[in-house]
Amino acid sequence: MSDRKIRRMKHPAVIRAATWADAPVVDALLRTCFPRDEEARLVQQLAIDGDLVLVLVAEDDDAVVGMIAASRMQVAADTREVAAVAIAPLAVVRAARGQGVGEALVAAAIAHLRSAGVELAFVLGDPDYYGRFGFDAATARGFDSPYAGENFLGIRLNDGPCVHTPGAATHARAFAALGEDA
Ligand SMILES: CC(C)(COP(=O)(O)OP(=O)(O)OC[C@H]1O[C@@H](n2cnc3c(N)ncnc32)[C@H](O)[C@@H]1OP(=O)(O)O)[C@@H](O)C(=O)NCCC(=O)NCCS
Repeated sequence: MSDRKIRRMKHPAVIRAATWADAPVVDALLRTCFPRDEEARLVQQLAIDGDLVLVLVAEDDDAVVGMIAASRMQVAADTREVAAVAIAPLAVVRAARGQGVGEALVAAAIAHLRSAGVELAFVLGDPDYYGRFGFDAATARGFDSPYAGENFLGIRLNDGPCVHTPGAATHARAFAALGEDA
């Protein structure tokens, strides 16, 4: 974990599991937060495919101001299958940014995934941002993935045997469509 402190939210939003009733709001939020509709379509497709393992929303005064999702991956390491997820997307509405809502969402997602027995989580993101939660490039390095690189980060969530020989790290199939019509 980086020595950078995770801040407390200035306006503490409530972090809760999303329900089906949140789907339209989450879809609209993603279309607002990203320049293209790829992330909104990704979450829709992950849901249709049954690959979402976690969707959390941040709620402030009964309004959804942020979301985070995690989806199942197929990951092999040391010739065994590892319980692993991809964290994506993460989004907070512009008016609520810079107040720790994003950090609260990531921290809550990590806690949920850890208690669910997930061993490894991957994210494609800024090492400065995700480093504060313990994600690093070293954990993801060596896994065979189209996202491999310095922004492909991983975190070990549960004490298991160290990974000596990383194998394939395959995202849910909805990711394959990302960027196809960009
Ligand atoms: C990234 C995002 C979720 C952060 O939400 P937030 O609630 O403002 O985050 P926090 O308040 O917890 O943290 C803010 C910090 O994140 C940094 N940050 C914001 N966006 C960032 C980005 N894309 N890359 C790296 N750091 C970023 C800010 O500079 C700030 O840094 P500081 O702590 O040094 O001041 C939000 O800016 C967002 O929705 N952006 C558009 C969608 C997006 O890019 N999602 C990330 C995909 S990995």
